[in-house]
Amino acid sequence: MLITRTISETRQAIAQARAQGKRIGFVPTMGYLHEGHLQLIDIAKEHSDFVVVSIFVNPTQFGPTEDYASYPRDFERDKKLCEARGTDLIFAPEVSEMYPERSLITFQIEKLADHLCGARRPGHFNGVVLVVSKLFNIVQPDIAVFGQKDAQQLIIIKRLVQDLNFSVKIISASTVRESDGLAMSSRNVYLSPEQRAQSTVLYQSLQRARALIESGERDAEKIISEIQKLIATASEAKIDYIEIVNVRDLQPVERLDGQILIALAVYFGKARLIDNIVLEISGDRVREIPALP
Ligand code: PAF
Repeated sequence: MLITRTISETRQAIAQARAQGKRIGFVPTMGYLHEGHLQLIDIAKEHSDFVVVSIFVNPTQFGPTEDYASYPRDFERDKKLCEARGTDLIFAPEVSEMYPERSLITFQIEKLADHLCGARRPGHFNGVVLVVSKLFNIVQPDIAVFGQKDAQQLIIIKRLVQDLNFSVKIISASTVRESDGLAMSSRNVYLSPEQRAQSTVLYQSLQRARALIESGERDAEKIISEIQKLIATASEAKIDYIEIVNVRDLQPVERLDGQILIALAVYFGKARLIDNIVLEISGDRVREIPALP
């Protein structure tokens, strides 16, 4: 497994792989890898011959009061996990390599960042599309894999690729959960044992929402209020948002129909956890979409 720190050595190594006729698969990460990331690597391996994983805690996607400085980092551990899963190259640049100067060219995201995390973390998705665009230009992958746990990010990146004609195919991967339902996240490490025990309420509340919808409820406000009630039973939970939006443009819906995203963000102490489900509703039929096509 190769490890590169600079853009030029990364481009060189990937050009060599491409010259051998290999298809390039890409998994962008911020490191502190868990099984969810490793399954993204598995998917990338299925669709390509040379898998690049980037490990870069991107400062431009963190707000001034967020956890950039304390975000968990453990390169040695990540290296072993990537190698064991058959990664071909890790690109782990310093901030000065990715941002020798503050970027003067930025993105404006319409509609897709108005709600959910976009509303709570101003500038977050601008930072995400900036770094992902830079990484796409450096790696020039044939395919790139993103998890549906970050559903808003996934939908924005799909649109980035469409609007800017990046020649990469985005593959989405379903959320990987602990055995009790908690979505895997690098930030789960912040949870105290008590908070960890209570955090299962997030997945339970999404399952409760799904059951209500399956039994015919179509009023978004009622579903949101049921989720709220269940989460309120966890004394350590502080709700940031619970929203139901359509998958097309991430605008809130009142009546549930078509493809919808039920998404939430909840603080347990310092840990801000997100989770979601995507459902397709057609008449009285309800189907979960674990990985958006
Ligand atoms: O999902 C993440 O880990 C990050 O937002 C990403 C896509 C690696 C960009 O920094």
